[in-house]
Amino acid sequence: MDSPESPLISRRDALIVGAAAAAAVSSSAPVAAAPAASAAAVPLTKLSLKVNGQDRTLELDTRTTLLDALREHLHLTGTKKGCDHGQCGACTVIVDDRRINACLTLAVMHEGAQVTTIEGLGTPQRMHPLQAAFVKHDGYQCGYCTPGQICSAVAVLDEIQRGVPSHVSTDLTARPLLSAEELRERMSGNICRCGAYSNIVDAITEVAGSRT
Ligand code: FES
Ligand code: FES
Repeated sequence: MDSPESPLISRRDALIVGAAAAAAVSSSAPVAAAPAASAAAVPLTKLSLKVNGQDRTLELDTRTTLLDALREHLHLTGTKKGCDHGQCGACTVIVDDRRINACLTLAVMHEGAQVTTIEGLGTPQRMHPLQAAFVKHDGYQCGYCTPGQICSAVAVLDEIQRGVPSHVSTDLTARPLLSAEELRERMSGNICRCGAYSNIVDAITEVAGSRT
């Protein structure tokens, strides 16, 4: 332990010096200058997408997710933001025939892509068969997860038709069975907090059955 005459700075002195230095910095530095400078430096880039069959051009901060581009810039609010962390599937959209979580991908990564959201699948007057089946089988309660569920189900039916196996397929070379187990596995990335799962499986099963 240091003696009282030790030349080393004491802990108390160090705190006093540190506080004085912090006060000097805060009194001399213009606090508002930093955000203003960084806002001016936001990198924007042009992006062209085909969204629900229409050509759209955007000028975006390169850090914008596809989800925010759709909701905040194109005002297609059918696609929902649930967790914003790739965990709930509420933001599922179809990009070039594959379903993806729009919250997990930057919009600028999809230059020239074809994006389909729930608005592009059907209208209240002319519903997509899966939309009609969800209504018929009561496949939702609050409906927040439903656009993502339906976009995901569109991709699942396509996967099954193309013979793409899943984690629970017993034969990787045969066409997947239309079992509840298959559908539950393939839809497992779409969480429904209302617990409408069995009705969702019924709705998808009906549409899948009508296509075989
Ligand atoms: Fe994208 Fe939850 S909002 S996965
Ligand atoms: Fe409410 Fe699925 S219907 S979260």
